[in-house]
Amino acid sequence: MNKKKRNEIVQFKVQSLDSLGQGVSKEEGKIVFIPKTLPGEEGIAEITASKKKVSFASLQNLTKVSPDRIDPDCPHYQKCGGCHYLHTNYENEISLKKNAMLDIFERQHRIEISDKLTILNSESRFSYRNRVQLHYDTKIGKLGFKSQKDNEILEVPNCLLPDQQVKEVVSKLYKDQSWKQYASHKKQGHIEVYNKNGETSVHANERYAFEGFSQVNKPMNDLLLAHIEEKFAQINYQNKFILDLFGGNGNLTENCKFETLVVDATPDKFIKLKSEFQTYKRINLFDENSLSQLTPLIEKSPDLLMVDPPRSGFKDLLKYTDELKPKEIIYVSCNPQSLARDLRGVLENYKLERVFMLDFFPGTKHFESMVFLKRI
Ligand SMILES: C[S@@+](CC[C@H](N)C(=O)[O-])C[C@H]1O[C@@H](n2cnc3c(N)ncnc32)[C@H](O)[C@@H]1O
Repeated sequence: MNKKKRNEIVQFKVQSLDSLGQGVSKEEGKIVFIPKTLPGEEGIAEITASKKKVSFASLQNLTKVSPDRIDPDCPHYQKCGGCHYLHTNYENEISLKKNAMLDIFERQHRIEISDKLTILNSESRFSYRNRVQLHYDTKIGKLGFKSQKDNEILEVPNCLLPDQQVKEVVSKLYKDQSWKQYASHKKQGHIEVYNKNGETSVHANERYAFEGFSQVNKPMNDLLLAHIEEKFAQINYQNKFILDLFGGNGNLTENCKFETLVVDATPDKFIKLKSEFQTYKRINLFDENSLSQLTPLIEKSPDLLMVDPPRSGFKDLLKYTDELKPKEIIYVSCNPQSLARDLRGVLENYKLERVFMLDFFPGTKHFESMVFLKRI
């Protein structure tokens, strides 16, 4: 059977959502993914991209509407690719994210988690981001989010995700077009608006979070830390030692009263550790020799290994756990796919104790996940 053509209009019936929040319609062996639809919905969609057995389409019209559908609060939602669940209520969004987590771990990676899974919702669905990045193009005079598919810039002056202070700055950038003064040296680029402890700043064309990573959702980060601290309280080995890999500014271990080595690739000058128990070492953990750079700094096997890598995950986790033999592991991740992948092999020597889905990014398909592991 021929593959579907771009711009072709197709009928669909959504059987389920995939782990990226897209509706999945299967007919005659062909799969069409339609974002912003819900299970049970039917209608017509326009093909935007196609492979032999799989196509992607954008929703045109619904002939059968799910009772879980709502009018999105955001005026940009229909066109914007930043959010994925605003066409349903928050309770349903959480249940769809839980399904995504179960699908990734249990169906795709064969790791049983349902009896260990804790779901932690966000108190607020909007106004949670303390940092936003907007792209600009002076030739067309636009500032906004960039669409992944065609690189077009969509203006988003009323985006609901930034916190109040960031929202006010963004609103001003649009209103008086003051973003153009940040764009004077480069025709195309990006601007980052950042609220750091109540003080907002605007940076142009710096790499994302160039002054060191920080979590974008402060209330959810506090909740994450509270659960990690419960774990610290249970650790009762002697001469406790914690290794915090991809530790950034030491966020995850800043309230821990045990000797902690924080490792990250951020230059020392940007690192601001908050605790006297933490020391910092700059190592590129994706370098194949990173483990041999680290081992001379470690006198004893860590009681707890913390791992919190970027979206791509940490493929060397097994190599590290085989060598360092930590008694416990906490792995925090913004990508459950790479987290589940990295646990393969590790689970031969470690028992999965707890699994968390933390909704750090309401409205979007993204969420934070965390697992607690104990050496068998
Ligand atoms: C998700 S952040 C976590 C930071 C920290 N644990 C926190 O909670 O704020 C990922 C961290 O990985 C660091 N990183 C990225 N690439 C790295 C590399 N090749 N080697 C070491 N660290 C890296 C980043 O600088 C960032 O601090």
